[in-house]
Amino acid sequence: MDSNKTVVLITGANGGIGYETALLLATSATSFHVIVGARSAEKGEKAVSDIKSQSPKGTLSHVQLDVTDSNSIKNAVSTVEKDFGRIDVLINNAGIISHATALIDQLRETFETNTFGPAIVTEAFTPLLLKSKSPKLIYVSSNLGSITWRSDPTNPYYALPAPAYRMSKAALNMLLACDYATLGSKGVKAWAYCPGYVVTNLSGTGEKGRQERVERGAGSAVDSAKGILAIWREKGCGCWKVCL
Ligand SMILES: NC(=O)c1ccc[n+]([C@@H]2O[C@H](COP(=O)([O-])OP(=O)(O)OC[C@H]3O[C@@H](n4cnc5c(N)ncnc54)[C@H](OP(=O)(O)O)[C@@H]3O)[C@@H](O)[C@H]2O)c1
Repeated sequence: MDSNKTVVLITGANGGIGYETALLLATSATSFHVIVGARSAEKGEKAVSDIKSQSPKGTLSHVQLDVTDSNSIKNAVSTVEKDFGRIDVLINNAGIISHATALIDQLRETFETNTFGPAIVTEAFTPLLLKSKSPKLIYVSSNLGSITWRSDPTNPYYALPAPAYRMSKAALNMLLACDYATLGSKGVKAWAYCPGYVVTNLSGTGEKGRQERVERGAGSAVDSAKGILAIWREKGCGCWKVCL
């Protein structure tokens, strides 16, 4: 891989904010190589093919990566190491809202993907990240993980319970703070980022869920992608405390 290229790995990049980020990067500059991480290889391949049909300036590939499956993560590290030898930017984007009935099942499902997943993906890819001249790490978090927001009755989201999702993102923010301290001393810049309330399939209910988001005034995932690009170019707030 050309050492002047910026190699970016995005988890959950076959849809929603991850896809829009992959599209934005690939279409914005020749200097990017975007690795679309997807738990379904078919969906990853389709995302790459869709983006390639839009005449990107940068290059793309995909890797099978289920953030809840340690074998999948291990294989993805081997593939990326063989093909690129390093990554310059790791974007931990994959996330879910659980629809399990019992709270304990919601907690287990949500933490597996939203918290444990990013933690073990970062741990596994850190050796490749540390091979970059300018390593960057981004966690796609949520303001719903803010304890300050949750405690404020005047906050517009105060009435929204979502305890499992909120807890998973609060813990993710702590992961970021830990990585900021430990990897920061090794030259890694790290951020947690709230992409805003946007129209995606996060509710897991397909077109109905998307329409409900539109009606509630959700924005576009294209703007979330622009925010991700801006924070690492440090034109946005660039503040690691953004979601704490
Ligand atoms: N949309 C919002 O308003 C909003 C607000 C704040 C934060 N966020 C955060 O933004 C991130 C992206 O969500 P989104 O809104 O773009 O939702 P989305 O449209 O549902 O996209 C989520 C992506 O994550 C993938 N994914 C789920 N579980 C995975 C796993 N175990 N391994 C690998 N990939 C997995 C999904 O793949 P499949 O297609 O295979 O399901 C999909 O590609 C999440 O972390 C979410 O919490 C979103």
